Amino acid sequence: MRFVVNGSDVDLDFDPRTSLLDLLRERLRLFGAKKGCNQGACGACTVLVDGARINSCLALAVQYQDREITTIEGLGAPGALHPLQAAFVEHDGFQCGYCTPGQICSAVAMAEELKRGVPSYVSEDVAAAGFALTQDELRERMSGNLCRCGAYNGIVDAIQETFAATKPESGKREAAE
Ligand code: FES
Ligand code: FES
Repeated sequence: MRFVVNGSDVDLDFDPRTSLLDLLRERLRLFGAKKGCNQGACGACTVLVDGARINSCLALAVQYQDREITTIEGLGAPGALHPLQAAFVEHDGFQCGYCTPGQICSAVAMAEELKRGVPSYVSEDVAAAGFALTQDELRERMSGNLCRCGAYNGIVDAIQETFAATKPESGKREAAE
């Protein structure tokens, strides 16, 4: 089976019951995405698929063949950090770091959701073309990523600083065909 991970093609044979998280960690040795709960409750395993965030512990790897999979290793690297990674360092957005790759992947996708006009539970106008990164939107949209160290203040500051320029589109979203 063929996968595209962090921009590289990978061909693998594996048990079709394998989760995407296990494929990334056990077969591809990409240890950035973490196994916290392994049941969709903590967000530690968050990765991007075609730019959208998913919990890779709940995803069967076979469903993601030929899709663009991005892990924290594909977002930035030592010496060439993603701006959000640099902001996490600057704002003390982590302590043990276990949740951090998931937090960062999740926030990167969240910023795109705001621009695309994907509403959240706290959005007042669900038909708006885009949303601003308010404190309420940020906290609601990141609520699927838990941090057992309680580094939330730094996490929020880092995300806010990095994506402060995210401005909502004006107008309404086009109705789906
Ligand atoms: S390990 Fe996937 S959500 Fe917790
Ligand atoms: S930094 Fe330790 S769980 Fe978040």
